[in-house]
Amino acid sequence: MLTIQNLTANYGGPNILKNVNIHVKEGEIVTIIGPNGAGKSTVLKSIFGMTNIVEGKINFYEENMVGVKTADVIKRGICYVPQGRSVFPSLTVEENLEMGAFIRSDKAKVKKDLHYVYEKFPKLYQRRHQKTKTMSGGEQQMVSIGRALMLQPQLLLLDEPSIGLAPKIVAEVFEKCEEIKQSGTAVLMVEQNANIALEYSDRGYVLELGENRLEGTGKELLSNKKVGELYLGK
Ligand SMILES: Nc1ncnc2c1ncn2[C@@H]1O[C@H](COP(=O)(O)OP(=O)(O)O)[C@@H](O)[C@H]1O
Ligand SMILES: [Mg+2]
Repeated sequence: MLTIQNLTANYGGPNILKNVNIHVKEGEIVTIIGPNGAGKSTVLKSIFGMTNIVEGKINFYEENMVGVKTADVIKRGICYVPQGRSVFPSLTVEENLEMGAFIRSDKAKVKKDLHYVYEKFPKLYQRRHQKTKTMSGGEQQMVSIGRALMLQPQLLLLDEPSIGLAPKIVAEVFEKCEEIKQSGTAVLMVEQNANIALEYSDRGYVLELGENRLEGTGKELLSNKKVGELYLGK
């Protein structure tokens, strides 16, 4: 569904990504790992029209995505959860979710979107009138993911969804990713928590200094000696 080919991108200064190749197939969870500053988040931002693309291609179902404005990327079926819990703290859960449907003008459709998200996140339904600032980190992360799912995207981009969460909650976040995948939304994520992320991933990529280093199935990367030493604490 998504093909990134020989992508070179920057933020107006030196190139951050150099000839990066990544693809995602329908029904996959794909994870990008690598050290801090490797350019992992920059890959997601490039898909979302937030970087300066020097060279290369980003295609989503054969359609060119380079130069497409963020709002139009969303309309084509890609949603993005940036790093950190980007909830609106003084809004309720439901108000936060409704923000995710900002491109819809059809109120009835928004109701359906809400229903869709509440089905996936029954806990959010129970808490729908609670202000998000009074919720735990894990709950806020679920609100962010739920908000991105409001438009029922074909591809969900997640930047470090497990950062700062207790281990038990981290597992819950990855379980949700698995459910999201089962319901037909592919996931491309960036993770520091490489061990658990690769366990839940169909495939993964290692990025270093803005370049592809390694790729393989989740299992292959988990048993790769270099990945083990550098990223899995083995
Ligand atoms: N908005 C920005 N403007 C300029 N440089 C940036 C911006 N965001 C990130 N960078 C730089 O791009 C490089 C890669 O960053 P990033 O993609 O966030 O890495 P990672 O997610 O792998 O930690 C870093 O050197 C960072 O300083
Ligand atoms: Mg990052």
